[in-house]
Amino acid sequence: FGAAYRYLGTTSSTQDVLRQLAEAGAPEGTVVLAERQTSGRGRRGRAWVSAAGGLYFSVLLRPRLALADLALLPLAAGVALHAACGVGGLKWPNDLLAPDGRKLAGVLLEADLRGEELRHALLGIGVNVAAEGLPDTACGLETFGAVNRAALLAELLVQLEVWLYRPADEVRAAWSAASLTLGRQVSISTPQGEVRGMAHSLAPDGALLVRTPSGSLTRVGAGDVSLIGG
Ligand code: BTN
Repeated sequence: FGAAYRYLGTTSSTQDVLRQLAEAGAPEGTVVLAERQTSGRGRRGRAWVSAAGGLYFSVLLRPRLALADLALLPLAAGVALHAACGVGGLKWPNDLLAPDGRKLAGVLLEADLRGEELRHALLGIGVNVAAEGLPDTACGLETFGAVNRAALLAELLVQLEVWLYRPADEVRAAWSAASLTLGRQVSISTPQGEVRGMAHSLAPDGALLVRTPSGSLTRVGAGDVSLIGG
């Protein structure tokens, strides 16, 4: 990853720049990195605040992937993020949180499909690096020591190459080991409403299985997890 590399000062979103490159035939592993984004995107339609001093980049995946493999990709990216940053733990599906629960980094996967065929996927990663200038719910990696952004990017690209194509059972095991979510009481806001209970385990496709007060396991495919009780 990163053999083809585009470095930008300010852009709208590295996802948009990379999509254009993808449509023009850029190879898998192409990376677009920006110092600042004016319309950085997060998961579930949210904005991603892209303050100066962070690491904001997108990687082009032209898989070797079947559509079915897509589901685990965000979890694999979370594992890579955790391995490269070396602090905190993962909140389902792929936020990297500091030990106090503030957000260090996030992953956005946007797949371009044509019918049932996967054309390419755009994996966007945002890491808060500088400790200053962030919302209260966020935290910069520099809180835990000096960060060399070039070295961090290089390590992230190495870890992504390692994890994105690992077998599903290894991804699930590594994700579970790095998880801050499993075993905790959670409240999840999903498109179908709120689910509360104990985060039990990952389903084979990476969905979160939650033990609800009735004792049954409920499958959550998408949603925002809040950990209950600090
Ligand atoms: C999230 O936690 O909701 C995902 C945040 C992803 C942010 C990154 S920054 C680089 C790339 N470009 C974007 O517009 N978003 C992703």
